[in-house]
Amino acid sequence: MISLTVECPFLNYCELYELEELYMGKVAVVYWSGTGNTETMAQAIRAGAQSGGAEAEIFQVEQFRVDDITKYDGLVFGCPAMGDEVLEEGSFEPFFSEAEAHLKGVPVALFGSYGWGGGAWMQAWVERTKGVGAKLFGNGLAIENAPDADGIAKCEALGRDFVKAIG
Ligand SMILES: Cc1cc2nc3c(=O)[nH]c(=O)nc-3n(C[C@H](O)[C@H](O)[C@H](O)COP(=O)(O)O)c2cc1C
Repeated sequence: MISLTVECPFLNYCELYELEELYMGKVAVVYWSGTGNTETMAQAIRAGAQSGGAEAEIFQVEQFRVDDITKYDGLVFGCPAMGDEVLEEGSFEPFFSEAEAHLKGVPVALFGSYGWGGGAWMQAWVERTKGVGAKLFGNGLAIENAPDADGIAKCEALGRDFVKAIG
C-alpha cells in the first residue's frame, strides 16, 4: 500500500488514516481478445480490483507500452490460448516478450479463456512468468470459452484478492 500523506486543512488525522486504509494501489489490466471472452474476464477483473479499493485501468494490449509498467503497483495480463497452446502471436506475444525484461519483482496476475486444450497454454505462461522473476499471484485464471456467472465471480475475486495482496 502507498501511504497518502497530504497536508489538507479540511482533513483531520482520522480521515487521513481512512484514506491510507482505502488506497490499495494502482493496477493495469492489459489484454488481447479475439472474440470477447478474455475481454469479458478483463472487465470483471477490473471491477473486482476497483471494489478492492485500487485504481484500476484497462487496456487492449496495443494501447499499452512496456515503459508504462513502472507506473503501476501491479499488472494483470490476459490472453486466450491461441495457435497450438501459445499466446496470441500478432500482438500479445511480441508485447509480452518485450515486457519480460521489466517484470522482475513486479506483482503480476494472469488470466485468459481457452477452448479445448484444458489450460496447457496457461501452465506454460505461468512457468514463463515465474521464470523472469515476477511476483506471480495465484496460478493463472483459465476459463473455458465465455465466463458464466461463476467465472465472472472468479474474475472479480481475482481482481479483489490481487489488490489486497499488493496493498
Ligand atoms: C486460431 C485459434 C487458435 C486457438 N488455439 C487454441 C488452443 O491451442 N487451445 C485451446 O484450448 N483453445 C484454442 N483456441 C480457442 C480459444 O482460446 C477460445 O475460443 C477462447 O475463448 C478465445 O478467447 P477470446 O474470445 O478472448 O478471443 C483457439 C482459437 C483460435 C481462433
